[in-house]
Amino acid sequence: MTDEPVRPGAEEWVPQGADVAALRRAAHECRGCELWRDATQVVFSSGRAGAPIMLVGEQPGDREDLDGKPFVGPAGRLLADAVDAAGIRRDQVYVTNAVKHFRFERRGTRRIHEKPTVAHIVACRPWLEAEFEAVGPGVVVALGATAARSVLGRTVRIGEVRGRVLPPDVAGGTSVFPVPVLVTTHPSALLRIEDAADRRAAFDALVDDLRTAADAAR
Ligand code: URA
Ligand code: SF4
Repeated sequence: MTDEPVRPGAEEWVPQGADVAALRRAAHECRGCELWRDATQVVFSSGRAGAPIMLVGEQPGDREDLDGKPFVGPAGRLLADAVDAAGIRRDQVYVTNAVKHFRFERRGTRRIHEKPTVAHIVACRPWLEAEFEAVGPGVVVALGATAARSVLGRTVRIGEVRGRVLPPDVAGGTSVFPVPVLVTTHPSALLRIEDAADRRAAFDALVDDLRTAADAAR
């Protein structure tokens, strides 16, 4: 499989000024990169316009690809638990991904998750920008490095920025969203921590970050 996306990215499939429902419908037609080819379907978002907190993940996983909804697998359950533990109502969050089609490698009958490239992230970013316009959140939370690359428009080390409220003017990049951004760990990274105490500590840190983000939205 080649890493080069089909040009010119999602721009020409994104309807201008559309609401979330219209964006979701239009995304089924997107051919902004090659990832649509092998995926089952586009996975857009969950949540409503007006939600104060926009959570951005990496890309749909195997379960999400089959279900057509973001964060319905193990990482999604962990994220929902963290949102609950932070005292945030689920209807206060709009949940989406930096890349809207599942990228994977086939091994036998299994589909192994593959990280999207920067080219995929850039190709898919017009959807995220349109969602931001349609939802109007007060804060954007990037879950992990892929989301951070998309939201900030530059590559950051999670350890250097995590948990801090980055005001729009210092968030960096050229097309940053005009609201505070907070970068935190991706819930899938927590699932890979084997030691129970370490996993618990990482979960608590994620909860703290979500609380910080919710406060920044007010
Ligand atoms: N991981 C993500 O980043 N997004 C999903 O939708 C599911 C798992
Ligand atoms: Fe379009 Fe994004 Fe899917 Fe690529 S990953 S085809 S840009 S929706």
